[in-house]
Formats: sequence, C-alpha cells, structure tokens
Amino acid sequence: MAYTVPKLTDYSEAMLQRVRDELLSALEYQAEETESEADLKNFRDTWVGRKNGVVTQINELWLKAAPKEAKKAVGQVVNELKTSIERYAEQAALLLSGITLDRALDAATRQGETPLPVPYFGYQEIVESEKPSESVDITLPGVRRPLGAEHPVIKTMHEIVGVFQKLGYSVAEGPVVETDYYNFEALNFPPNHPARDTQDTLFIAGQQAKPLRERLLLRTHTSPVQIRTMEKMQPPIRIVIPGVVHRNDPPDASHSPMFHQIEGLAVDTNITFGDLKGTLDHAMKALYGSSVKTHFRPSFFPFTEPSAELYVTCFICGGSGKRGSDPCRPCKQTGWIEVLGCGMVDPNVFEFVKDNGYDPKKVSGFAFGAGIDRLALLKYGVDDLQYFFQGDVRFLEQWA
Ligand code: PHE
Repeated sequence: MAYTVPKLTDYSEAMLQRVRDELLSALEYQAEETESEADLKNFRDTWVGRKNGVVTQINELWLKAAPKEAKKAVGQVVNELKTSIERYAEQAALLLSGITLDRALDAATRQGETPLPVPYFGYQEIVESEKPSESVDITLPGVRRPLGAEHPVIKTMHEIVGVFQKLGYSVAEGPVVETDYYNFEALNFPPNHPARDTQDTLFIAGQQAKPLRERLLLRTHTSPVQIRTMEKMQPPIRIVIPGVVHRNDPPDASHSPMFHQIEGLAVDTNITFGDLKGTLDHAMKALYGSSVKTHFRPSFFPFTEPSAELYVTCFICGGSGKRGSDPCRPCKQTGWIEVLGCGMVDPNVFEFVKDNGYDPKKVSGFAFGAGIDRLALLKYGVDDLQYFFQGDVRFLEQWA
C-alpha cells in the first residue's frame, strides 16, 4: 500500500524533526513486518519504488518545493532519511532470508533430513542482530561424510607386503611408464625375441626415432624394478615391489589391460632354489592358512633360470577339485591354482648390474612375480575381474 509522506506546513526545526521521526518509525515498523517475498516487494515499492516511493516523494514534495533559505535544513533531513531507508531495505531482505532459512531448517529437521549449510551473511551488524543468529541451530546434526575403505585389491596387496615385511623384506617402487631397456633388455629379453610377444606390450606413440632401448612403454610387469633397485642398492637385498602394470588384453572376466603385480627379489651369496621354495611355501601358508600345500612346475622366463610356476591347493575346494557333487570352477577341477611365476635370477641379468657388486660368480638370488588381482578374486570369491575396476560403491562396500 502506498504511503503518503506528511506535508510540510512550515520549515521550522521542530517541524522537520517531527516528520523525520514519523517517517522513521513507519519505516522501522514495516521492515520488521516483512515476513514473505510479497511483503518484501511491497516494502520496496513503498520506500524505494521509483514511481511513488517515499524517497521519490520526499525529494519532490519536501526538497524541490522548499524555498531557497530552507533547502539546506530540508536537504539534511532528506539525506539522512534516504540513508536509513536504504539500510532498512537491505536489512529487511536479509531478515527475510533468515526467516526462510529458519523455515527450511525446521522442515528439514521434521523430515529427518540433514539441513543445508547455513550461509554467511557477511554483515557484522546484521549477524549480531537477533533474528538471523536464531536461525542457526547448532544442536542439529552435522553433515556426515562416509569414510572410504580399502579396495579389495589394495587390501590383498598390503597383506602380501605385510607377510614379506615380517621376513625382513623392504618395499621398492618404480615408474609405470618404463623404457624398453628396463622392461626387456636388462631382463635378458633379446631384441626381436618372441618372448616379448607374450607380454602384449602397450607402447607410447611416436618413439620410433629413438634407439630401441630408450623407447617408452607401459611396463608389462614389475620386474624392471629388480634392475632399478640393484642399480641403487648393493647386495645383499631383499625387496618386494607392488605396482600397476599394463598389457594389451581386452577386458573380460579374467583379464584387464591394467592390473597389479607384486615382485620379490632376494640376492645374497649362496641363495638356492631351496630358499625360494621355503620362502614361498611360508608366504602361501601365512596368506591362505597352514593347511595349504605348494607345488612347483617348470616354466620359462628370460630373466630366471631355472624358472617355475607356483601352484597352491585350491582354497575354494581344498584340493579335491569338487564342491559337493559339483566340479570346482576356480581350479578347473584340478585342485591346484597357479599363483605366480618365479625362479633363480639368470646370471645374464646380473651382468647388467655387475659394477654395483652383482658379480654372477659371487652372488645368486631368486625372484618371483604374482598377479594380485587374481589372488584377490579367489580370496573374495568374486567371479568377474571387471567388478574391481568399475568403481561401483555397492560392490566395493561389501568389504568396507
Ligand atoms: N614378470 C613375470 C610375469 O609378469 C613374473 C616373474 C617375476 C617370473 C619374477 C619370474 C621372476 O609374468
């Protein structure tokens, strides 16, 4: 509703004081009554509206109409009122957002929702006044942020690392983008040797101009870190190397172009195949229980000689190959599961780090490399590797 400003019948000090007080109390009253968007619009129209707002009215009816000698006094009152009106208009808007917030908080608490965070008003003067501070109820529950949990693959990795740390092994790491030299050449893969094909290497593009050994690729196994570590540390060494590796394998239930391995390397004088067998047998029992049996079958890797694959009794069927009257699928009814590749470090590999104390005539060692993801699959009874990498929280939280 439009508000008509009182008339100035004279320009005495008492008169100016009276109209000023009258306007101010009307202003204060209406600002306090502003409780909805409609009230706020009405308030603005009344006081600062261009057409017939109070500010316009006092300019026209008081200031412009005043005789010359009264202009200064009237001007002062008009200016003072203008400032007050502007401040009250701002304050009314802020009070309203406080009230709206109060209602939203009330409604949210009634419905058991977590309320939205309370905005910061920025105006000291207003924040300290009563209404907005009432709107922040510090007894409401805070925003709960769910804690993450270890991914089953990382959990398995930590367990294996833990078993070897107890045996006195340290942990080493190396780059995922590797050179041909570390991934192949120093591991005794001759150039153009067919063994390179078995690794389905993903090469970094545009490397043809470089000499072969400097070309970059995504490491296909964690074995290059054997060389990197031997370059830095003299024997004796005992290390495990967990990490991500890549191969050009299309994703399916048992393959992924990205997966995880853990490498082991022990080098000293007089390390024998017996040490390799004893260490891995102990590790498997620590991981899968003391009733697990281990079994080594001959194999081939360019960087170990002799080489072997390690099998353990199937932890699903306990070695029988059967689950009740059904065939056991994870071990393909054999009762054995292949867990890793291993062997005695080939003397040709030591030749590449000979100058750092690895004289093949004086030292010997064993190495192994296990695929962590497959071990996690078996351990957690998951039948599709892809679940591990799809990031679906409903799947992952089963192990949280
Ligand atoms: N690097 C081999 C692989 O990825 C595994 C391995 C590591 C074999 C160490 C022997 C010794 O298949």
